[in-house]
Amino acid sequence: MATNDKGIMTIRGSRITGWGTALPDQIVTNADFEARLDTSDKWITERTGIRERRFGGTTASLAAEAGKMALKSAGLVPSEIDLLILSTTTPDLTTPATSSVVQDLLGTGGGAFDLNAACAGFVYAMVVAGGMIKMGTNRVLVIGSDTLSKITDQNDRSTAVLFGDGAGAIVMEADPVEDKILSYDLGVDGSAMPILYCNHGGYMTMEGREVFKKAVRVMVESAKNVIEGAKLTSDDIDLVIPHQANLRIIEAANQRLKIPMEKTSIVLDKTGNTSSASIPLALAAAADSGRLKEGEIVLFCGFGAGMTWSSTIVKWSKE
Ligand code: ACO
Repeated sequence: MATNDKGIMTIRGSRITGWGTALPDQIVTNADFEARLDTSDKWITERTGIRERRFGGTTASLAAEAGKMALKSAGLVPSEIDLLILSTTTPDLTTPATSSVVQDLLGTGGGAFDLNAACAGFVYAMVVAGGMIKMGTNRVLVIGSDTLSKITDQNDRSTAVLFGDGAGAIVMEADPVEDKILSYDLGVDGSAMPILYCNHGGYMTMEGREVFKKAVRVMVESAKNVIEGAKLTSDDIDLVIPHQANLRIIEAANQRLKIPMEKTSIVLDKTGNTSSASIPLALAAAADSGRLKEGEIVLFCGFGAGMTWSSTIVKWSKE
């Protein structure tokens, strides 16, 4: 709660009022990998659910494209934004933050900073945006953008087939009536760092099977925390928007949470794992296809290198 200039207590909640996406033009199919690596479309599809991914662009250019679309969808001009948060694992420069470049490309007002919590970063950024809105910020542009193809060894079949480039963005605005963010859960277990990391100038190193097992465990625990925190049950969840790393990870988590796959937005077949971009890409796909109705309960759930995890429950309301 906060007090307005007439001394009346007002809620400073937040809601999502716009969204946008950006994917590079170059489509890389499983057949493209089959042609040059010891792998097959069958192996990749069965083990991951991924059929194609996109390569290209820079983290800033993709972020700006998605951000521009999100602003348009929210009916805002860039100067009306008070804060830009860019979630990324693949900044274009060591310094300044890529969000500075994005701010210049878009012309947003207020501050801007990068946030890195790997593939859990977008939900971290949503939660930070919600907190900033509670402190008085009115409009936050939250962008997830990554160009993982730059830090993936394209000759290593165990990682090359998994990752793609892309961006997704949302606008979060103050909601004076009701906070649409019902609960959140953020976490990290730094002792799991060795199972997935990338040195400066190097390529990602990953123990796939370990990441898989831990990912399912933290997704389920984190999702349970936010469902309980919002005083809901699994049956109340209308749509799950999970991090898009591997279809089998999502299926295993859903099964443990007793949430049917029909209630889940999936884009990884077309995008691969786009890290920070995967959750807003899956959100936009659901919203654009009319899957999200006013008042529905949405569970966002991410995990990534760190090992990090992040979940939030949002009551969907664009109005
Ligand atoms: N094509 C064919 N064979 C392959 C390929 C490939 N592309 N990649 C690996 N293999 C082989 C392995 O070499 C292994 O062969 P071996 O038995 O002769 O040693 C065999 O397939 C089985 O390998 P596993 O690693 O056990 O296969 P698994 O079923 O676990 O699938 C995968 C591998 C897809 C990587 C899976 O473990 C996974 O998705 N893990 C999670 C990855 C993830 O989510 N990473 C992103 C985290 S988010 C972030 O922050 C970036």
